[in-house]
Amino acid sequence: MKILAIETSCDETAVAVVEAEGEIGNASFSVLGNALFSQIEIHKEYGGVFPALAKREHGKNLVPILRAALTEANLLHANYEPLIEEQKHNIEKLLEREGELAFQLIEFLEEVEVPKVDAIAVTHGPGLEPTLWVGINFARALSGAWSASRRIPIVPVNHMEGHILSSVFFEEKIKDVPLPAIALLISGGHTELVLMKDWLSYELIGETQDDAVGEAFDKVARMMELPYPGGPEISKLAESAREKSAQLDTPLPRPMLHSDDCNFSFSGLKTAVLYALKKTELTQDEKEKFAREFEDAVSDVLIKKTKSAIEETGAKALIIGGGVAANKEIRKRFENEVAEIKLYLPDVSLTGDNAVMIALAGFFRYKNGDTALPGAIVADGTLKLPS
Ligand code: KG4
Ligand code: ZN
Repeated sequence: MKILAIETSCDETAVAVVEAEGEIGNASFSVLGNALFSQIEIHKEYGGVFPALAKREHGKNLVPILRAALTEANLLHANYEPLIEEQKHNIEKLLEREGELAFQLIEFLEEVEVPKVDAIAVTHGPGLEPTLWVGINFARALSGAWSASRRIPIVPVNHMEGHILSSVFFEEKIKDVPLPAIALLISGGHTELVLMKDWLSYELIGETQDDAVGEAFDKVARMMELPYPGGPEISKLAESAREKSAQLDTPLPRPMLHSDDCNFSFSGLKTAVLYALKKTELTQDEKEKFAREFEDAVSDVLIKKTKSAIEETGAKALIIGGGVAANKEIRKRFENEVAEIKLYLPDVSLTGDNAVMIALAGFFRYKNGDTALPGAIVADGTLKLPS
């Protein structure tokens, strides 16, 4: 079956078309089309994602990105056929708060034949609620307009489940993952240790008490006057320090390293950086040393807590997912230090937000019977993984 997937939970507008076959936990996928517009340049001047602006940008970019993904998938065929007034009215009503999106979508729908897709997967949380709504309403409008001859159901997808599944997706397949597994989810909004008991079934084992790891990277970067997003910037500086064997004289704290649970805290580490920076002249060398020490502190805590979670649960695999999983040092440390069980790291092209991951999760959810009536799908900014 062909799945059209839509992701708008934060600052990437993404649409993918994926051909999927098989069963939950044992499936093959072929990515037919994958289009993404990153809003990073637009948010840079605000030093982080500005929700109202992100929402507006999704509204502007969804139709061009949909067109690009369907074109790449060879599923777009020109055929002028005007919509009937009722269809137009429905689209305008659904998208009344999304600026030019209704107009662009009507124009697009009148130009092309209904593409041969079998389901629409859309992220419904967690993330920024205003931007999630844009994607959901867009999915509803598409499903409504295209279902006249053949119903195209909507599958709501949890963004974090997308990250998990993209980390076990290799050579166009998801198969043979030993379960139970521990998933370490590290992104701009999340830092969680989750026990994946079985496919599509999760239990939260530990989480951050304050900032997410990606957020800490971004905030520390801002303190060092580095651009958003801070993760890649810090990573580059830290690498330079390592090459020169340059190190801070006074180490930064490793918060909650010895606490008797699998929770994290990163706001103290961030504050420690803030105070230490005040006492220092911020030369390039100093920035590099701070970046290295910060990355080391984060890695130490992530590894220690993840190992505890593996021990506690007897997990047979470790899956690392989310934007911060792009970090070279963190990847290397896990590769070197978690040798006893199978380790899954996502392909670097899939660490950041994308719609392929939503299609993967969408397929498993579809197979699980989790389609939803369009009117019943709700954006949930703090959506949890289901147990
Ligand atoms: O998963 P993601 O793309 O978006 C969310 O769902 O939050 O993660 C974005 C986060 C940002 O905080 C960014 O700074 C961080 O991932 N990030 C990194 C690296 N690349 C991205 N953090 C550390 N090292 C990196 N190389
Ligand atoms: Zn994400």
